[in-house]
Amino acid sequence: MEAIRAAARLLEAGRLVAIPTETVYGLAADASNPDAVAAIFGAKGRPSNHPVIVHVACDADLSRWTSELPPEAAKLIDAFWPGPLTLILKRGPQVPPAVTGGQDSVGLRCPSHPVAQALLKEFKQGQGGLAAPSANRFGRVSPTSAQHVIDEFGAPGEGPLAAVLDGGQSEVGIESTIVDLTRLDSLGPVLLRPGRISAGDIERVLGRPLALPDVAAPRVSGSLDAHYAPATPVALVASDEFARIMLALKANGRRVAAMQYGEAAAASTRLPSDPDGYAHALYATLRELDQQGADLILVEQPPQSAAWQGVNDRLRRAAFDSIGVLERLLA
Ligand code: TXA
Ligand code: MG
Repeated sequence: MEAIRAAARLLEAGRLVAIPTETVYGLAADASNPDAVAAIFGAKGRPSNHPVIVHVACDADLSRWTSELPPEAAKLIDAFWPGPLTLILKRGPQVPPAVTGGQDSVGLRCPSHPVAQALLKEFKQGQGGLAAPSANRFGRVSPTSAQHVIDEFGAPGEGPLAAVLDGGQSEVGIESTIVDLTRLDSLGPVLLRPGRISAGDIERVLGRPLALPDVAAPRVSGSLDAHYAPATPVALVASDEFARIMLALKANGRRVAAMQYGEAAAASTRLPSDPDGYAHALYATLRELDQQGADLILVEQPPQSAAWQGVNDRLRRAAFDSIGVLERLLA
């Protein structure tokens, strides 16, 4: 509790604090302080036109952040907050442009992690907002433990962080589901990023289908290809090709860090065969394999069913150049 109070005071003073959430760790700053928000972008090396999510206490007054709370938002908040769901809403007039990337929308989320909740209650007496992207350098794998954050930015005092709150391993393991509710009249609700809360879960609550992002969709940096990537190249291959490709790479003298799932997996690194368990372990495993100095991280493609949508989205981005990488290493 002492650490949480201290963190709240640092944040109120405009400093950066890494915080645990149920999805991944966040790099937090006072969302109403433009200099503090600018420090996030500096630390991450992130382009300043990318918006950041504002984290709020669930009973916070949302009219500080959004000019309009449609009934769809109220339904989703009721069903999924606190939890791994971010809503994109029309931005309120006092939200600094640094938070919204200059757009007319703002991303809001109430995290369920008990440390994040306690911090949001303590920070500005529960009425503030914490701008927090994932606590990794731009384009890299998101952190799911306090040690990952320190690996990215150095210990508090050594780098840009004033403090790191340790809340254990993030339970969900991949970033929140993002739903855009700013264009309900034209497109309807839009899924910008899949996550633990599935498209089907959201459609059931709203009673209508989700649209896919169009060209006018608000910018989501996680939607760039080449996002969430380790430094070691990653290739994603079908289960029935895994053994053959592995052998061919070894025959070519390549060092391969292999990652499969389920009981039958032969690779030394084996992930759970259920999507939630797999997501929970995914980023920590990619970070570990990245340390092995291999030429390639070879990943067995999980099932393509709806329950795997969040995992497959992250894998596809990590392995954004599978074919090119394999051609090069097999040449
Ligand atoms: O689970 C999560 O969402 C984690 C934890 C820390 O809460 N945060 C996270 O933040 O993933 P970040 O910045 O790495 O990704 C947030 C995504 C970005 O792709 C950003 O573009 C999008 O949310 N976003 C934020 N505000 C937005 C807005 N106003 N309009 C459209 N997209 C927005
Ligand atoms: Mg991120």
